[in-house]
Amino acid sequence: MSMKNVVVMDHPLIKHKITLLRSKNTGTKEFRELINEITMLMCYESMRNLPMEEVEVETPLQSMKSQVLAEKHVAIVPILRAGLGMVDGVTSLLPTAKIGHIGLYRDHESLQPVEYYCKLPKDISNREVIVLDPMLATGGSVSDAVSKIKLRNPRSIKFMCILASPEGIERLTTEHPDVLIYCATKDEGLNENGYIIPGLGDAGDRIFGTE
Ligand code: PRP
Ligand code: URA
Repeated sequence: MSMKNVVVMDHPLIKHKITLLRSKNTGTKEFRELINEITMLMCYESMRNLPMEEVEVETPLQSMKSQVLAEKHVAIVPILRAGLGMVDGVTSLLPTAKIGHIGLYRDHESLQPVEYYCKLPKDISNREVIVLDPMLATGGSVSDAVSKIKLRNPRSIKFMCILASPEGIERLTTEHPDVLIYCATKDEGLNENGYIIPGLGDAGDRIFGTE
């Protein structure tokens, strides 16, 4: 499997928080907080290459040239529901990002994604899109979401997830080789129900307390 387009986070703070996230004893409040914190740390790590521009700034002592982010050009697209848990982690660092939503659920029998909602920013073609979903399992949901977003010709698409299976990485990199994947960790595989192993269970249910 090619990992050319995959960045697996290698930060002790992220690793520590993922261990807490996996535990079956972690309740809804802490689970939500951990998803938020891990996303913020991943966002910080993954935004290293955002374009900068030079502006003039006056310090209390003198003026100088200094750098700011080039434009307000990012759109984030959480995949409902579980992707919503990652939105605050990104917007706390990129407060001007526009937010689209794609509603997909995985049919429990077929494991195929079923779309029920899609609303994207009008100017998405001028933007770099970051798709958010904590779980990359079979890869069906994110692959569908990316196909939908590509119809609107964004500048680029990145995918940020917390747990990724090898099967999901393989599918997404095959179907969308132009999408860069950031994951906090790569797990062993999928079980017969399409759940990530060892995983963390159903991310949406754990974020929203609907187990
Ligand atoms: C989960 C998860 C992903 C999808 C991943 O959503 O949040 O969207 O499954 O699986 P895949 O890679 O095999 O497509 P789910 O369908 O449980 O919906 P929810 O977020 O509303 O709980
Ligand atoms: N969706 C989840 O929430 N968890 C998994 O392990 C797989 C898909």
